[in-house]
Amino acid sequence: MDQKVRRRRVLDILVKWAAAGVAGVFSIPALIAMVVPAFRRPTAVWIRLGPISEFSVNRPTAVSVSYQKRDGWVVRGFRRTVFVSALGPREFKVFSNICTHAACAVNWDDKRQGFYCPCHDALFARDGRVLSGPPPRPLDELPTKIEGGYLFVQMPA
Ligand code: FES
Repeated sequence: MDQKVRRRRVLDILVKWAAAGVAGVFSIPALIAMVVPAFRRPTAVWIRLGPISEFSVNRPTAVSVSYQKRDGWVVRGFRRTVFVSALGPREFKVFSNICTHAACAVNWDDKRQGFYCPCHDALFARDGRVLSGPPPRPLDELPTKIEGGYLFVQMPA
């Protein structure tokens, strides 16, 4: 093998190693971006329900909320209904509309003055307590906060 061919081979190997090194360095951020979301825990989401002045003290208000949650690489959309029960001008309880017995949707019933579940004839009080029927526990209450005159609810992670 002559000197020229050997030099060419060495140069070829050096170029390949350099290309592999550059590719490795540039692929690290991409690998991190792909792997990190898999270890991220889903976080709870705060949703703005509306100005606190909009919620009547006389009657719980149903509010539809839409939000997205990321779990690893998967982003899911949710649409839920919650009930805002105003107990005072700045005192609110927000309940899931899902019955704690077998997950039917409850609705506010003016006649019964409670959250009524038609599936097994259950009734929940305005503060979520079970008044009658088979549900084993009160309606699920969701965390709330007031910021800038708006009521927010935290949807479960
Ligand atoms: S699902 Fe509501 S009472 Fe059974």
